[in-house]
Amino acid sequence: MEKKESYLRKELRSLLFGVHVAVVRCLQWGDTGKGKMVDVLMFWADIIIRGTGGDNAGHTIMNNGKKKVFHIIPSGILGDKKGKVTIIGPGTVVYPKALVDELLNLGKQGLTYKHLKISKNAKLILPTHIFEDRAKELKSADAKIGTTGKGIGPAYSDHFARIGLTMNDLLNEDVFRKKLKRHLSYKQHLLDYPQDKAKKIMACDHLMAGIFYDPDELFNFEQIVYHYVHVFGVSLQNYIVDTDKIIQKALKEKKNILIEGAQGDLLSVDYGTYPFVTSSDASLEGLLKGCGLRAEDVDLDLGIIKGFVQTRVGSGPFPSEAGGSMSELYCAKHSRVEEEDRYTEVDINSENEFEAGLALRRKAQEYGATTGRPRRVGYLDLPLLKNSLKRSNANTRLVLTKLDILSGKKIIKICTHYVYKGPNYFDGQIMYVEGSTVEEPPMDSYFLENCSPVYKEFPGWSEDIREVRKYKYLPKELKDILEFILDFVGMEQDPAIISVGADREETIVL
Ligand code: GDP
Ligand code: IMO
Ligand code: MG
Repeated sequence: MEKKESYLRKELRSLLFGVHVAVVRCLQWGDTGKGKMVDVLMFWADIIIRGTGGDNAGHTIMNNGKKKVFHIIPSGILGDKKGKVTIIGPGTVVYPKALVDELLNLGKQGLTYKHLKISKNAKLILPTHIFEDRAKELKSADAKIGTTGKGIGPAYSDHFARIGLTMNDLLNEDVFRKKLKRHLSYKQHLLDYPQDKAKKIMACDHLMAGIFYDPDELFNFEQIVYHYVHVFGVSLQNYIVDTDKIIQKALKEKKNILIEGAQGDLLSVDYGTYPFVTSSDASLEGLLKGCGLRAEDVDLDLGIIKGFVQTRVGSGPFPSEAGGSMSELYCAKHSRVEEEDRYTEVDINSENEFEAGLALRRKAQEYGATTGRPRRVGYLDLPLLKNSLKRSNANTRLVLTKLDILSGKKIIKICTHYVYKGPNYFDGQIMYVEGSTVEEPPMDSYFLENCSPVYKEFPGWSEDIREVRKYKYLPKELKDILEFILDFVGMEQDPAIISVGADREETIVL
């Protein structure tokens, strides 16, 4: 195994030659294997930084069959013992309770976090945010986004509404009190929420089983101050710093910086399938801003897609979903356990699309790393990939993960365009009518929901590819599909990395 790993590193070193800032991010709806890629590249990095999102993320690292999942802490924390600095950047939203819990959990696993730095400007997730997120989702019924319920949207909204707090406020009780008082004065309307339901939300584990609840005011001011300042604040005080300074110094000293994206381009509030998105800009620009970096700082931008499939968790349009709306409804209503009990034998080659998708989910273990929800599974959507690639640059290279899952699938379907089902829709000056061909769809959910995918079909491959370590040994069928995709989306450079298994060594560098 030592030998294999050093071979991988040699290949990676040549990929990373002359690179000082590398980005790992997702071009789809998240969960493409950012955690794995951070693990693969970690040996090279001096600093690993997250710039967007919060504990809505779930990044998995598998090592020798052992699984670790990270939420608000960058996966790079695994390099702490080797002196690697891990940063929670200024563009993130942090629920200090979740962060403290995650740190305690690291400790229990014998992992250290001595070199963790938390930006003083990271935004605080408050109990109000978690309450609002959950209350809104309960109220929305059919129109719900299917958020992770972690308070992400309300925390970002309040930052822009100028009524938010930052990590730095945990260090100054007087300031915290003043800002919290002002913040709560803008939340009076939440008192109108039905009391019984409000109490139930406030009693959830994530809100410490009702500790922040006040029967008259809804939020208990003193309990929030006590926990945020005296419990979480005290635990985190040595880690809260000006991370911009660290990053600027690292750039000057030509240290190696690895940026760990969260969510994905299609979940970006600015460029994704709005409104079924998260509330941060998960695109390259948004991610860099959230780290305190600029586009010109980046030497290598690794945009990950799942190899020839696509998944999404939560609601929203997914034109190439296997089994269409039946799959969406099913995933919203059923748990992983129910699925494992009920569908013991399913076939990825089933002619029933719903079952074929379910079988792929089972085979690929596509269940949310944060919420455990079954992920909706479908086929690679090239119109959406083209949309994500609009914001790429000369340093962008593709990474494909999970290609091992498709071994044995007889026909691989790739969505090349859609046919619009109507009603008439203006996308700026372009008018779509029933039957229009759609190659560059507007990122509007109401439009996307009315699109039927058109597929090109390719023969699949039967070989197990998990042991393959060189591109030339991959099945011809796989390489043909890949070439078609690169040509179709106009990507001139070859992919940088192909992942053929969850473990670090199951990786091919091109
Ligand atoms: P992230 O949010 O982008 O970090 O991705 P997640 O961790 O949420 O989900 C990706 C899942 O796929 C994890 O369970 C990984 O261990 C797994 N994974 C990553 N790459 C591969 C691969 O090439 N093959 C297989 N079979 N699993 C992979
Ligand atoms: P990683 O980093 C997949 C989805 C949620 C929901 C929508 C809004 O692991 O790829 P939010 O709680 O952010 O307001 O939810 O975004 N979502 C993710 N889906 N992977 C993620 O992160 C996600 N983070 C948020 O499921 O549909
Ligand atoms: Mg994930």
